[in-house]
Formats: sequence, C-alpha cells, structure tokens
Amino acid sequence: ARPDALPRDLEGVRVVISAGGTREPLDPVRYLGNRSSGKQGYALARVAAQRGADVTLVAAHTVALPDPAGAVVEHVSTAEELRQAVHAASRSADVVVMAAAVADFRPANRAEHKIKKSDDQPDPVITLDRNADILAELVQNRRPGQVVVGFAAETGDEHGSVLDHARAKLKRKGADLLVVNAVGDGKAFGTEDNSGWLLGADATEKPLPLAPKAELASTVWDAVVSFMKR
Ligand code: CTP
Ligand code: CA
Repeated sequence: ARPDALPRDLEGVRVVISAGGTREPLDPVRYLGNRSSGKQGYALARVAAQRGADVTLVAAHTVALPDPAGAVVEHVSTAEELRQAVHAASRSADVVVMAAAVADFRPANRAEHKIKKSDDQPDPVITLDRNADILAELVQNRRPGQVVVGFAAETGDEHGSVLDHARAKLKRKGADLLVVNAVGDGKAFGTEDNSGWLLGADATEKPLPLAPKAELASTVWDAVVSFMKR
C-alpha cells in the first residue's frame, strides 16, 4: 500500500521491534547463526512508522536492508546484546514485537584466538549454553497495557502440525499475539512473501494467506490496534 493510503492509527504509539538473526561467536572469525533475513521485522517497522508509530528497531544480522524511514535503529549481534537493547527500549514501549530469530544456545566458550585444526589433537566439540528467553522475560515484566507479540517459525513433526506446535507455544510464552510461519522447503526465510496464522491469547485464529511481507505486517498491526482498544 502507498504510505498515504495507510491509516494513521498508530500515531503516538511507541513500538519496539526486533528483527534479523543473532550470531553467537565461536572464535574471532566464526559464529553460529541462522537463516533469518530480517525482511519481515523490517516490514513491520516500516509499516508501523507509516501508520504514525514511534518505532525503535533492534536489528540483528539481516540481508542488506536499508534502515526503515522514520525508525530509530539499533544494530546488535548476539542474543545477549539483543536482549539488553530490547529490554532497555521496552521500558517505555506500548507494543513489543519479537520478530528476531534469537539463538536458543551460544557456545559455552568463545576462543580468544582462531581455533586451529591439528593432527595430534582431538577434533573440537562445541558445548552450548542456553540463552535467556527474551520473549518470556518481556511477558513477565510487561507494563500495564503493554502488548507483546511473538513470532514462531515451525515445521510440523511426528508430535503435531505447525498449528499444534504454535498453539502450545502461545500458551507457554504468554504473549498476546503469535505470528506463526510455516518454514522448511524454502518457505518464509529470505523470501519476499509470507504466510501462516495469527493466533491471539483470546483464542482468535486468523489465517494469513501468502502475501508480501508488508501486507502481513499491516494485518499484524490491525490486530495490535484492536488489541489495544479492548
Ligand atoms: N525468542 C526470544 N528469546 C529466545 C528465543 C526466542 O525472545 N532466546 C522469541 C522469538 O523472537 C520469537 C519467539 O520467542 O518471537 C518464539 O521463538 P521460537 O524459536 O519459535 O520459540 P522457542 O521458545 O525458542 O522454542 P523452539 O525453538 O524450541 O521451538
Ligand atoms: Ca528457538
């Protein structure tokens, strides 16, 4: 949609959005990362700014994306850096959207020097430590009336479908809204379009048909606006 065709229904609303994928260093040249492009989070930031919101975007690693017009952008790398930035910005926010792909684990040790291979040493084993669950912390510390939105990228498996996993995740996380994307087979990551479901804590479930990420962003903001009106 053209910016001037969008409603200004987020005027004065302070939103924080995390986007992209974190990187957890192994040594000075290597890291554990993920395939998040950041495009969906950036689209959310762009659309929110166009609808009048005060936007802070906490951006982890993305494909080359321009900073969205009108947003304050803070660039971070690791899950811990993203955590600090999101919590600091969230203290005065009305809405927090966790679109970032946050590493669940980080290497327990970060080598000071480049890890070398050697014929007389055993090959290294990477031990992982758990990262804090930022979304869970946001839900726990939320200010009165603050809306917290989570994302879930799911593949179905032998324990259940994409939707089964997503419904369980919404309950477990305690967020107000959960944007669910089916992933795998080239879906969602890095693509221009997205599809899935929007699940509400009030048990509402809205299918999100395959559409450009900006369109999906608009649907998410529509849902946030109606959530704030309740
Ligand atoms: N998330 C977070 N902090 C983490 C991991 C995830 O805030 N350490 C957020 C993501 O930004 C997303 C939501 O939690 O909004 C769901 O992430 P997801 O990876 O789908 O859920 P997990 O609880 O990590 O479960 P799992 O990866 O085991 O499916
Ligand atoms: Ca995870």
